[in-house]
Amino acid sequence: MRLVFLGAPGVGKGTQADKVAAQYRIRKISTGDLLREAVRNKTTLGLEAHEHMDQGKLVPDSVVIGLVREKLNDPSHANGFILDGFPRTVPQAESLAKVLVARDLHLDRVINFRVSREEIVKRLSGRRSCPKCQATYHVEFAPSKTSSVCERCGETLVQRSDDQPEAIETRLRVYEEQTAPLINFYEKKHLLSHLNGAETVETVYQNLVKALAIPQTA
Ligand code: AP5
Repeated sequence: MRLVFLGAPGVGKGTQADKVAAQYRIRKISTGDLLREAVRNKTTLGLEAHEHMDQGKLVPDSVVIGLVREKLNDPSHANGFILDGFPRTVPQAESLAKVLVARDLHLDRVINFRVSREEIVKRLSGRRSCPKCQATYHVEFAPSKTSSVCERCGETLVQRSDDQPEAIETRLRVYEEQTAPLINFYEKKHLLSHLNGAETVETVYQNLVKALAIPQTA
């Protein structure tokens, strides 16, 4: 199963990708997570990406495409993958198509998560993240059972620097300008399914499983 999860910041792509990846034993490739890891490790790539990310702008296509190409070369992705937050521009989508064709692979489905702007702002401003294992929480909708530390690894939770009001505004604008055109791109390829992301995490997941037509396991 090779999937792309598309949608504005905060619609719940990462939350749902984690659930599908765990349930169906396929890999999640989140360019946001990969870039944040590079920033934390102060790699050359991280230093280049840092400022763009903090401001809520996109990291240059060449950087992100290189990252994803490297991941797709990894044999652990042979079972399938979920691309979370990639592609985000038409040139990224075109590069992805070329990379897959060169490997004789294809995408099975692109899911477009839809949530109102008001709800997105609520979700992003209340999000708390684990800087170590990347688990995601929400102060109101999905609080950690262990207060301000991560349930999985015990690290202190943080608020992402791009979850501040100014960066959220920029990210939403960048989404409309550069990422929303991908809806049409994938619609023309007959790969797109729209999904209402405004329900509870569990309901969205159930509807996602139906949209993907994958059998439920215990
Ligand atoms: P990235 O990390 O990909 O950020 P994003 O796309 O803006 O997406 P988010 O992680 O903010 O949201 P999400 O949809 O995954 O929602 P989540 O599940 O966390 O990218 C960060 C930056 O990296 C970019 O701005 C850019 O600079 C750079 N970058 C990344 N990819 C790039 C690319 N391809 N090209 C160029 N640059 C790139 O949920 C959000 C919150 O809501 C959480 O608190 C969660 O608990 C809560 N929540 C989730 N679902 C529900 C629900 N159903 N009900 C209630 N609350 C919910």
